[in-house]
Amino acid sequence: MIKPLVAGNWKMHGNTETARHLAAQLVAQWSDRPVAERSVEMVLFPPSVHLSLVKGAVAGSGIAVGAQNLSQHGSGAYTGEISGDMLVDQGCDYVLVGHSERRDLFGESSATVAEKFKAAQSSGLIPILCVGETLRQRQQEQTVAVVTAQIKAVIDCVGMHNVCRAVVAYEPVWAIGTGETASPEQAQQVHRAIRNQLGEVGLSTRLLYGGSVKASNAAELFGQPDINGGLVGGASLEAIEFFNIVKRAE
Ligand code: 13P
Repeated sequence: MIKPLVAGNWKMHGNTETARHLAAQLVAQWSDRPVAERSVEMVLFPPSVHLSLVKGAVAGSGIAVGAQNLSQHGSGAYTGEISGDMLVDQGCDYVLVGHSERRDLFGESSATVAEKFKAAQSSGLIPILCVGETLRQRQQEQTVAVVTAQIKAVIDCVGMHNVCRAVVAYEPVWAIGTGETASPEQAQQVHRAIRNQLGEVGLSTRLLYGGSVKASNAAELFGQPDINGGLVGGASLEAIEFFNIVKRAE
């Protein structure tokens, strides 16, 4: 049995006040049951400048914290970058790697994504490797080829075993922030392809779906056999909505 994970990617939103408030609301909702009895893991991905604040706000609640990005370098003259060790030092357990916004808007190649994945694991972080096709690629029936190639680039760099002890998030680019969600069948089809690619070693790897997940569509998506939770953007900025999504994964 794979323990589902629901992650909230806050992207570049908010300030210290809204970050503190959102974290506090989630803690209040979440603390009605002992940590050991919860069947879902909740992880928050605030902007890097709010990591330690959010970490402090969720302390003792069982809610984990992660970063949205990291440098592929360990340390050195890399102005503006943040290393894996620094994120661990801020209390992070997870880090997103290869989000489509990083790939598309900041030119991260699959090779760079693989290096970042490696750097994350070297620091002791659990990477959530994000993959997904564009609308054009889907229309050209390249979805599975694109997604498996994105994962293969990381397998080639760190090996199958290391990919399988991370988390993989399938986020179709056309479904991110658009209100358009992959149907549960469409999502399951890609998740099954990923599961097959990972083989025996990946039978217990957590595979998340992301792309306009809401409380109203989460249950059907999370009910698919190879979907083990979600990576939520917009809806994670609203405490009640996000908490209802988390509950759908139970
Ligand atoms: P939305 O849920 O806003 O579509 O964003 C998904 C996403 O990019 C999460 O990483």
